[in-house]
Amino acid sequence: APEPATLVIFGATGDLARRKLLPAVFGLWQDGLLGSAFNIVGIGRQDMNDEQFKDFVIQALEGSKETDTPQPGNLEKFRELLYYEFGDFSGDEVYALIDKELARAQDDHGGRKNALFYLSTPPSLFEPISNGLGRLGLADESEGWRRLVIEKPFGRDLDSARELNDAIHKSWDESQVYRIDHYLGKETVQNLMAIRFGNAIFEPLWNRGYVDHVQITASEDLGLEGRAGYYEEAGVVRDMLQNHLMQLFALTAMEAPAAFDAEAIRDEKVKVLRAVREIPRGRVKSVAVRGQYGPGTMDGAKVPGYRQEPNVRPASPTPTYVAVKLEVDNWRWQGVPFFLRTGKRLPKKVTEIAVVFKRPPLGIFPGGLERNVLAFRIQPDEGVSLKFSSKTPGQEMVLREVVMDFRYDAFGAQLESPYSRLLLDALLGDATLFPREDEVDHAWQLVSGILEAWEGGSAPEFPNYTSGTWGPDAADELIGPDRRWRRL
Ligand code: BG6
Repeated sequence: APEPATLVIFGATGDLARRKLLPAVFGLWQDGLLGSAFNIVGIGRQDMNDEQFKDFVIQALEGSKETDTPQPGNLEKFRELLYYEFGDFSGDEVYALIDKELARAQDDHGGRKNALFYLSTPPSLFEPISNGLGRLGLADESEGWRRLVIEKPFGRDLDSARELNDAIHKSWDESQVYRIDHYLGKETVQNLMAIRFGNAIFEPLWNRGYVDHVQITASEDLGLEGRAGYYEEAGVVRDMLQNHLMQLFALTAMEAPAAFDAEAIRDEKVKVLRAVREIPRGRVKSVAVRGQYGPGTMDGAKVPGYRQEPNVRPASPTPTYVAVKLEVDNWRWQGVPFFLRTGKRLPKKVTEIAVVFKRPPLGIFPGGLERNVLAFRIQPDEGVSLKFSSKTPGQEMVLREVVMDFRYDAFGAQLESPYSRLLLDALLGDATLFPREDEVDHAWQLVSGILEAWEGGSAPEFPNYTSGTWGPDAADELIGPDRRWRRL
């Protein structure tokens, strides 16, 4: 278990805290992973007392599908760990109150004044809070460790991400900063490393000699879900590509790290991100495709187009789909394209990384030669499958593609929520699954040209795909003509 600590959640009554964070903390606590000397201080701008906050948290836990079933009496015990303070994040007062809370926690359970500050707020507050904590000495580690967890989005482009990093580093050392990308908390994303670097048979094939191309897909059937305020500003490039998909790419393409630790792994991720051929504005047309969903039918029900969603501009240029071709200029991957795609209102929710191998060099059987595919299904139906050709029973030599399938549920265990894994790691001081400053910087560099071209150029012809279909036709041209997106 981590050392005695206080978890301080800024934005504790917000959506993310209610739906994901609080259930994750409760689950960890109930499993005995947080030790007994642990408490939570919710911080908000809303005037509330401890009792009201406790009620709020218990209701949130009872109302979330992500909450583990409480053992009898556990909700009441968990309630005792909760405190609340409020104030203006740009003043000093609220930080002085936090300091008092840390002192109280120390009185209650002894030990040092360790604190994890979790910023689950709108991004405009990251800087004021980081500064405020710094100003009042709360980033100082002389009385206990102090760590800062920052939710996404980390900046809205390269310049703002750099400014935010600089602002944070005025008070915090990089080793104290934990940037969240919840995809890294997914079991099956970590399994990618386990399979690549815990087995001898895959790595020899993992290169330009054998791999034809790689496809990384994160498709979602959901639409906007009432998030116009955020999404109209963000769009799919900031919402999914710069962070989640770039992370999946980096883990798939990186070299084997020398050790399974934070610096070794993050060094390798940065190295491969640096090897990706730049996409300046002028190249965007040939390597990236954007889309926005129009009205359509999903599961037999009519759904509105993006522009008809509440609070979306009637002629909104915001993309909800992106496909991009990455070329990696290093010895391992020269000439092997990585195709990344993600979008909303596609036929189904599925995240997958597919390594598509080259065709056999010579066909000695009738019929065409197929490419073998090793597919990592990140979610749902988590698992790994290998597609290859086999003889079908009968007198003739007829081949057909078959699949060897490992299902993660064979372990019989329920998959943990990514937030519980990441929270526990941050409490333990393990930054392996948190993107480092230079990683975030390189990921922004890679998408900068795309953002510039799409946000500075002429208005797109949207909508260009129907809800419930696999995105715009131009995406097929991007991957074609002799390759196809996998039908998932
Ligand atoms: C979030 C995005 O980061 O990831 C959402 O803001 C998206 O738009 C979500 O739906 C997808 O996450 P998951 O874990 O459901 O695949």
